[in-house]
Parts: sequence; structure tokens; C-alpha cells
Amino acid sequence: INTIIHQNSDEASFFVAKEIAQLIKQRQKVGKKLILGLATGSSPTKMYEYLVKFHKEEGLSFNNVVTFNLDEYYPMQPDSMHSYVRFMNEHLFNHLDIKKENIHIPDGSLSKEEVRSFCEQYEQKIKDLGGLDVQILGIGRTGHIGFNEPGSTLSSKTRMVRLDQVTRLDAASDFFGHENVPTKAITMGVGSIMDAKRIILMAWGEGKSDIIRQAVEGKIKESVPATFLQHHNNCDFILDEASASLLT
Ligand code: F6R
Repeated sequence: INTIIHQNSDEASFFVAKEIAQLIKQRQKVGKKLILGLATGSSPTKMYEYLVKFHKEEGLSFNNVVTFNLDEYYPMQPDSMHSYVRFMNEHLFNHLDIKKENIHIPDGSLSKEEVRSFCEQYEQKIKDLGGLDVQILGIGRTGHIGFNEPGSTLSSKTRMVRLDQVTRLDAASDFFGHENVPTKAITMGVGSIMDAKRIILMAWGEGKSDIIRQAVEGKIKESVPATFLQHHNNCDFILDEASASLLT
């Protein structure tokens, strides 16, 4: 894991958005698609704002971009105010020229019986496109990446999972109470994430400093899934001074 520390999250988000914009443009020149793995939550929102800004002010086009989101709550209707579909539309997709058919988000409205084959197809679609060029990540206080909670294995793939209590508590305010937070989610696996050619994890604030220290410097173990990223050969952690403050 390579750590890059910026003065604040704004500057760091600009830096990440610039890299993504560069990659999109490089691919456009050679007539190819960029396959982009995306996250929700507070960590990438500023970066998405910059991508929207580059589209509006500098004409950056997303017509060659294909996206796969990491996860979605289960059960979850796409039009619910809590869905990650809604989150992504509001923060990013509604403001870009990305093609609707190029957007992929796990479907939280499927029946239990349908989920397994949906997950297999999700993996297959990514493979058929040649794999993820870049995966954007945040990190949870449990050390989760996507919704791969403690106990997730290195080889895990897209599947239904049970959310950790800490994760549900962290989401409580968004859902107006912890009891309203779904107990399950559909998430890409650690293995699906590790297959990405490049991984960019963003983390801001003092609240993330302890888990960042564990992820970067701790022993690799299933109880802190983000430690598996130490096995990846092209993984950057983009941090602000506060989230990096416990690194030695
Ligand atoms: C979201 C996701 C999660 C978040 C993590 C951090 O799609 O996969 O792993 O990245 O929970 O959330 P924030 O950024 O809100 O602190």
C-alpha cells in the first residue's frame, strides 16, 4: 500500500479526480472504454463533485466510461431515498453524459432466489469487459471495503452479506435510527476488488485514523478485511493529515 497524504480532503479529492479524468481521456484517444469501480458514502463525494465540474467546465466526456458500484443495501428499492442508486444519481450520474446502459449497481430489489445468479452475472460482466481498470474505495470503521465485513475472505466474490453492528450504527443517522438500517447488503467481494488493476482508497478525518493504521501497518487478517489490500501491487491510500495521523 502506497500512502499519499494531503493537507485536506478537498485537495486530495481534486488529485484523485484529476487522475480519473486523465485515464478517461487516455482511453478516449485510443477509442477504448474505461471500466470504473465506484463507492458511495461521504469519502468520495468531493471527488465526484470535481468530476462533475470537469464535465461541465472543461467538457470531460463520460461517453466511454462503464461503472460498477461496489454495493447496495438489501432489501432496497432503487427509488428509495436510502438507495445507493439514488445516491449515485444525485452525486454523479445525473450531472454527466454517461450512458444509462453503462451504469451498474447491485440490485437490492431482487428476491432472495434471484440474488445469487445476479451476483454471478455482475462478476461476469466485469470480466467480459476486461476487468476493472480502477476501483475507488472508502473504508469502514470495521475495516470493511465495500461491505466486506470482518470474516470476509481474500477470495470472496459478489454476494449477499450481513452488515456488522458497527456499520449499522454508523448508518443510523441516515436512516433516522439504527433499527431502520437494513441488516444485509449485496457487495462485490474482496477478491472482486483485488482483481482491479488499480485501487484508490480515500479516507478523511481523525475517526478513520485507527483503522487506517491497522490497514496499512497491521498484520494481514480476515478480521480487518482492508489489510488484504497489502497484497495488491497498485493500491494507493489517499489520506488527509487527520486520517494519516497514527501512521508511523
Ligand atoms: C460504500 C462502501 C463502504 C464505504 C465505507 C466508508 O459504497 O462500500 O465501504 O466506503 O463504509 O463510508 P464513508 O465514506 O461514508 O465513511
